Amino acid sequence: MRKKVTVVGSGNVGATVAHRLADKQLADVVLIDILEGVPQGKGLDLFESGPIEGYDLKIRGTNDYEDTGNSDLVVMTAGFPRKPGMSRDDLLKANAEIVKGAVEQVVKYSPECILIVVTNPLDAMAQTAFRVSGFPRNRVIGMAGALDTARYRTFIAEALSVSVQNIQGFVLGGHGDLMVPVPRYTTVAGIPVSELMPKVQLDAIVQRTRNGGAEIVNLLKAGSAYYAPSAAVVEMIDAIFNDRKKILPCSAYLQGEYGIQGLFVGVPVKLGARGIEQIMEIRLTEEERAELERSASAVKELVDVIKM
Ligand code: LAC
Repeated sequence: MRKKVTVVGSGNVGATVAHRLADKQLADVVLIDILEGVPQGKGLDLFESGPIEGYDLKIRGTNDYEDTGNSDLVVMTAGFPRKPGMSRDDLLKANAEIVKGAVEQVVKYSPECILIVVTNPLDAMAQTAFRVSGFPRNRVIGMAGALDTARYRTFIAEALSVSVQNIQGFVLGGHGDLMVPVPRYTTVAGIPVSELMPKVQLDAIVQRTRNGGAEIVNLLKAGSAYYAPSAAVVEMIDAIFNDRKKILPCSAYLQGEYGIQGLFVGVPVKLGARGIEQIMEIRLTEEERAELERSASAVKELVDVIKM
């Protein structure tokens, strides 16, 4: 039987996730939003693309959580973007309320689903979804590292003029200014990147990666990135539905791994049919560990504000 995915939030990220899922024929899709008409309109538009693209999927939009029932996987994109005059904490509290309300509904109708959280501030919203759902930690996953790593790989491939497929690496930590790309574990067709690029150039790429979300926001003026974020979400869904056991950096609830207790932070995990099947603990230098701890502390501050 075909899988069913619900996408909560029919904005740019949500709708583009639905679009990519359809193109890859990964699942039937329900788009849900509190806005009336928008999820229905986008859902119908995608549904009507089927004969051209050659998919027989059911795609529909709704305002009613009953229609999301028995989803195998739910992607949470609902939330406010930051508005002028809004503090970080205001945004944090407002989005925590939205995520909380939506997760309660999701759990009611799809108690066995895997939840992928995309709403920002990412790690704190993943933690909110985890607490509110009561799901085990393998079924609540934050999407951040796959996106940040895609940006990092893009910049390295461009700088070296090689295929993006040759670049392997990952980004650790929270999805914020303090995220930790790890050049020591970054390779180009198996060759350590440090062999191919001077440190100053790599440092600049690390910095650009940290600033990757803001770079797009500054260009778009209104709204934030959605093509790469949706691609990252669908990469995760593909790994889960095809039980690939694919190692990707994701925000995961740590219980002592990396010396971090009771907090969502980005680390490499193995994604398969059960969601997070393993948290990959790798050795870090003192400096890398200190950077990860600093990034985790920033997440902890947010989580404390919303008491999650
Ligand atoms: C980004 C935002 C959406 O990194 O988190 O693009």
